Amino acid sequence: MKVLMVCLGNICRSPLAEGILKDKAKKNNLNWEVDSAGISSYHAGDAPDPRSVEVAAKHGIDISTQRSRQFVMNDFEKFDKIYVMDDSNYDEIMLLADTDPQREKVELILKNVPECKDYCVPDPYWDDNGFENVFKMLDEACDKIIEDYKAKVGQEA
Ligand code: 4NP
Repeated sequence: MKVLMVCLGNICRSPLAEGILKDKAKKNNLNWEVDSAGISSYHAGDAPDPRSVEVAAKHGIDISTQRSRQFVMNDFEKFDKIYVMDDSNYDEIMLLADTDPQREKVELILKNVPECKDYCVPDPYWDDNGFENVFKMLDEACDKIIEDYKAKVGQEA
């Protein structure tokens, strides 16, 4: 599987989602390619926000070497699944998509995590206290991604 995580700046949420899913894929012996990108180019080339680096490190995950990049049209071809963090990301990516197969790849990352009421990962950029909460939401979402994949593969086998 090739998975792309998308948020607005690619410095807070999607780098965490990338780091968490990479870690879980590895622990489950899944040879997945996981990357992340931003809707915007505001932070292109930047390292993740230090608060995301810190919360990931606290949970044993190193995201410090990631660098922000903007989403490009070729990502629709390269990746099997594109997970977005909130409604605004969803709308922006859907505006860029011009075929049904492209649209079908795009999903809110919390869609299958029922406890997260509006299915959106809040942007923690302006909230120093939001990062641990975002980590927990993404950790749960990534567990679900792996669980659903394993169930699907199990059914097909
Ligand atoms: P992210 O958070 O989309 O989770 O990376 C943001 C980072 C930067 C900005 C907005 C959101 N910004 O406006 O610069």
